[in-house]
Amino acid sequence: MTDVLYEADIDASVLRGRTLAIIGYGNHGRSHALNLRDTGAEGVLVALREGSPNRARAEADGFEVVSLADGARRADIVSLLAADEAHGEIWREHIAPNRKPGQALILCHGFSIDYGQIDPAPDGDVILAAAKGPGGAVRTAFERGGGLLGFWAVHQDASGQAGALAKAYLAGLGCGRAGIRETSFREEALADILGEQAVLVGGVCALAREGFETLIRAGIRPEMAYIDTVHEIKYIADLIHERGMAGMYEAISDTAEFGAHEVEGAIREAVRPVFEAIVKDVTSGAFAQRWVADYEAGRKTLLARREAAGRHPAEAAGAAIRAGAARRG
Ligand SMILES: NC(=O)c1ccc[n+]([C@@H]2O[C@H](COP(=O)([O-])OP(=O)(O)OC[C@H]3O[C@@H](n4cnc5c(N)ncnc54)[C@H](OP(=O)(O)O)[C@@H]3O)[C@@H](O)[C@H]2O)c1
Repeated sequence: MTDVLYEADIDASVLRGRTLAIIGYGNHGRSHALNLRDTGAEGVLVALREGSPNRARAEADGFEVVSLADGARRADIVSLLAADEAHGEIWREHIAPNRKPGQALILCHGFSIDYGQIDPAPDGDVILAAAKGPGGAVRTAFERGGGLLGFWAVHQDASGQAGALAKAYLAGLGCGRAGIRETSFREEALADILGEQAVLVGGVCALAREGFETLIRAGIRPEMAYIDTVHEIKYIADLIHERGMAGMYEAISDTAEFGAHEVEGAIREAVRPVFEAIVKDVTSGAFAQRWVADYEAGRKTLLARREAAGRHPAEAAGAAIRAGAARRG
């Protein structure tokens, strides 16, 4: 385990008197801008593309909103919190041609540096300051007096202060209340993407759909199949979040625990080659290339897959259950 730092261990002065442009005002962008301002950052600008639907919200929150080019011209530090697939385009077209010399670049995911979407200028710090979790949670945890776990890394240290900047930025987000650890761009990028593809999103949905379809083939009615393979994921996820996997096993029925231990091994063996293939696909940069190419072609593949997923019979069963629950109030 690496050392864990808390608020009192971190020198926030490296952020003082420096203009910071937050690029993007989505889930992370808004939370970062608000938390940094609340923890004392003075010169926070929000830089958005023309026609951004988030402009009014940023202005209502009291931020000066500027163009991407102006953000790059004025800021000492740019925090690139736009969608990962657009980072290459934003860097090439707006930041690189306009950036203030010596400007530092902050990312909150390793994707665009580790998979070659951005070729940073040599005169600026390039750092990772990742608050681990969805962007909205960066703000809600902060407002409750807490923070998300923070991870920092340095890709390029032009100022000699890159690590200090990463830690000060994370402390400004509130991560110093939960703990700040060192990582690398490579580690964060692979862990994040493998986690979401193999387990949290792709893995969970694959198991749930497969379980649902298996029960339907076995003659079970769709609503019952949905409840037992999809709807109850939340209860198990909450137990895992609160108590860990071993704690969850202790909390459920012995019948469920005995049976689950019996099949876990076979399921793991079946998915291991798929997971190993994901590691190769991600670390080689092939996944990033396919995704950025799809984004540049208008997200045709993504939108077609989204539409197909919406037509899966489990969705209708789930909608019926949710509508029934809503009627009962
Ligand atoms: N560390 C973690 O655990 C973690 C978790 C989630 C996300 N993240 C990272 O946080 C970053 C932002 O994610 P998010 O969830 O905040 O995304 P989001 O809510 O989808 O917000 C995306 C923002 O990017 C802007 N954007 C998209 N395409 C753009 C383009 N071509 N030019 C200019 N702006 C563009 C959008 O602009 P408009 O306002 O114009 O729509 C929006 O403001 C990503 O790097 C993501 O990987 C990290």
